[in-house]
Amino acid sequence: MISAANRLSLGFMAHSGIPDFLNGLELKSLRELHLEAIYEIEKQVYEEPWSKELLGESLKAPMTYSLALFRSKDVVAYAIYQVVFSEGHLLNLAVHSDFQNQGVGSKLLDCLLEDSQRRGALNFFLEVRPSNQIARKLYEHRGFRPLMIRERYYANGEAALIMVLDFIADSSAE
Ligand SMILES: CC(C)(COP(=O)(O)OP(=O)(O)OC[C@H]1O[C@@H](n2cnc3c(N)ncnc32)[C@H](O)[C@@H]1OP(=O)(O)O)[C@@H](O)C(=O)NCCC(=O)NCCS
Repeated sequence: MISAANRLSLGFMAHSGIPDFLNGLELKSLRELHLEAIYEIEKQVYEEPWSKELLGESLKAPMTYSLALFRSKDVVAYAIYQVVFSEGHLLNLAVHSDFQNQGVGSKLLDCLLEDSQRRGALNFFLEVRPSNQIARKLYEHRGFRPLMIRERYYANGEAALIMVLDFIADSSAE
């Protein structure tokens, strides 16, 4: 999984080739030194951003992992997720506004799903605002299906749509 150098060597990259697959972006896990950069993106893209403290705590939490795409030293996109036994759970996924709608979110999602499977996840859950059409499209195209609505989930009272991806069903369908 994550090497001492903090880089990933994901199996599918070996097939597709890292430079082509990531278009020159580098995949690494997040570290405390990236907190300021991801907090700036967080404030830029979310109406209810996580605090810097919450971001920092999530990077240290058990069974919680992060991946980010970098252009040179700049964070372009990041994801924070948990794998607890056989269940994966997306906690945060964000792409810098200058890099949105260029396939970056899809690539990062593929990478974190691959990593979660390697860590033992058999399925993967996430919450998304029903009004977030772009994120829903991203997840639906990756094979996530709607599971249930959780009312008043977000601070503004909006419900969350819970979506799930079953890795076993997903791979047997291929
Ligand atoms: C949601 C988000 C992560 C998607 O990342 P992205 O890099 O912009 O997405 P991609 O370029 O990989 O595109 C994913 C799909 O959304 C579509 N899309 C992306 N931006 C779009 C836009 N502005 N308008 C219309 N469609 C758009 C793409 O066409 C693509 O659809 P396709 O699979 O049919 O080609 C990103 O927009 C983001 O950070 N949003 C703010 C934070 C957020 O909402 N996070 C998710 C919380 S659940």
